[in-house]
Amino acid sequence: MKPIYLDNSATTRPHPEVITLMSRVQEENYGNPSSTHAMGMEGEKLLTLARKQVNALFRSEAGRVIFTSGGTEANNLALKGAARRLKKRGRKIITSAIEHSSVLDCCRSLAEEGFELKILPVDSKGQVDLQSLEKELNRETVLLSLIHVSNEIGTVQPLTEAGQLMKKSKAPALFHIDAVQSFGKLPLEVDSWGADLVSASAHKTHGPKGTGCLWLRNGVMLDALIQGGDQEEKLRPGTENCPGIAGFGLAAQIAADRSLGTADKVRRLKEIFLLKLQEEGAAAIVNGPALEEAAPHILNLSFPGIKAEVLLNALSGAGIYVSAGSACHSRHPEPSHVLEAIGLERMRLESALRFSFSILNTEEEALRAAESCAGLIKNLKNFLGS
Ligand SMILES: Cc1ncc(COP(=O)(O)O)c(C=O)c1O
Repeated sequence: MKPIYLDNSATTRPHPEVITLMSRVQEENYGNPSSTHAMGMEGEKLLTLARKQVNALFRSEAGRVIFTSGGTEANNLALKGAARRLKKRGRKIITSAIEHSSVLDCCRSLAEEGFELKILPVDSKGQVDLQSLEKELNRETVLLSLIHVSNEIGTVQPLTEAGQLMKKSKAPALFHIDAVQSFGKLPLEVDSWGADLVSASAHKTHGPKGTGCLWLRNGVMLDALIQGGDQEEKLRPGTENCPGIAGFGLAAQIAADRSLGTADKVRRLKEIFLLKLQEEGAAAIVNGPALEEAAPHILNLSFPGIKAEVLLNALSGAGIYVSAGSACHSRHPEPSHVLEAIGLERMRLESALRFSFSILNTEEEALRAAESCAGLIKNLKNFLGS
């Protein structure tokens, strides 16, 4: 039986057109974009096109894109670059309890450098507490970083409201958004949010791994993390990953071209999956926001009485690939900090799996995966005598 890939929040299958383009760039357009001869200029042209394609998804005339090695690097560049640049104006940084580890660990590392770190609580759906945010924002605050869509439970954060609070507070802060899970999937409203910095990653939206970007509002200044060249406005020096960047550009273009109806199609796959699971008698509890409030592609379910790793391995044996917690944490046995932050009790924490869908999944796959999953749960429950 063909495997069913439902781990699209960990990474997505690259579009065939992206792979073809990347191979062509590797084979034919291998000139260094910094070289001044014709082949170098061809490389430069590829970068310019990709920058335009990626920038278009930020839907703003007021910013530009710096290419990085992915979402983790973009988050590090945004947070460390901004905090260090602004440290003379204030020392407080604010983030939320359900951020990706590339934001949380980065903020903790800034705290070790002497910044004051405030981690905002979230409610049972994963929504950041705006009252706490309002209380914490002050003249010392130089950075606010929030995730747009939670990679584990699909919560969509109220970024416009958060941005308005920041403006009202008159904090000398920059507003960073981790949009790695929403880029190419949901509209990004960087101007309505009042965002200054936005991170994205190619491999979450059918592009290649090892490529991402930081969108910067014009006029925003950052300290670079590394030195050594003029590339990417000296903010990310080093010879550019041309095949990866070209692939990222094309993936962004495809996402833009297909935008109409894509989110609805993916949401429908999620609904079909959950309905079938329930029809087949599997006792599944949705973690985080209700289906219609969450991002279209992410569904986090607990199966009380069954350990997540056990079901994950059984599913993997049946050719169905899902995740326990976020991909980055899944090799670590500790409970997910996101599920802890939304206050899940131990039984639900230990039995939580994330199913994440993409436009490359089909309804037939959603139905077949639900049937198999329900069957495996029945077998496991019989075996465990529960
Ligand atoms: C919300 C979020 N931010 C950042 C990252 C890191 O992105 P990358 O894998 O491109 O480093 C991920 C990856 O899972 C993510 O889900």
